[in-house]
Amino acid sequence: MHATTIEHCRGFMGSSPDQMQFFSMLLKMIGAKRTLEVGVFTGYSLLATALALPDDGKVVAIDASREHYELGRPVIEKAGVGHKVDFRASDGIAELDRLLAEGGEELFDLAYVDADKQRSEFDRVVRDFMVGFNAAVAADDRVQACLLPIADGVTLCRRVK
Ligand SMILES: C[S@@+](CC[C@H](N)C(=O)[O-])C[C@H]1O[C@@H](n2cnc3c(N)ncnc32)[C@H](O)[C@@H]1O
Repeated sequence: MHATTIEHCRGFMGSSPDQMQFFSMLLKMIGAKRTLEVGVFTGYSLLATALALPDDGKVVAIDASREHYELGRPVIEKAGVGHKVDFRASDGIAELDRLLAEGGEELFDLAYVDADKQRSEFDRVVRDFMVGFNAAVAADDRVQACLLPIADGVTLCRRVK
């Protein structure tokens, strides 16, 4: 799966192996059964998540495009974890609104948002967006947050309210 991802012309979008090793351990440490992922691309992080969940676990995976997910889906099936994946081809915000309307707020042990940071092509704008996002998270007393220097940075939040 990693080869499928990095060989793709947009392979830079895939999460890094060390990041997914960390997520895998985290998922097991918290005993996660149901998780959410926004931003699937070829499914590298999705596969790592599905492998870390118990056999009756489920990951709801949302991506605006199904095209790239279809490249990685055979690997997910071959790994024997396809039954844990609920892929939804949709805009992330629209699908999250649908989940909230269904009372889904309490349903996830972990949510990985890896999408839509690049509303602009320019690194500087992405950087400014992430600085603003991290400032908003730091000021939000509903979550405890820490910034992990893994890959290009991971903001880890724990809901406290
Ligand atoms: C950084 S890649 C995800 C990488 C993936 N998590 C991995 O580790 O391989 C970002 C993905 O987000 C999707 N995306 C961008 N904006 C989105 C949106 N508003 N709603 C849903 N998906 C979106 C893109 O189609 C792309 O596949």
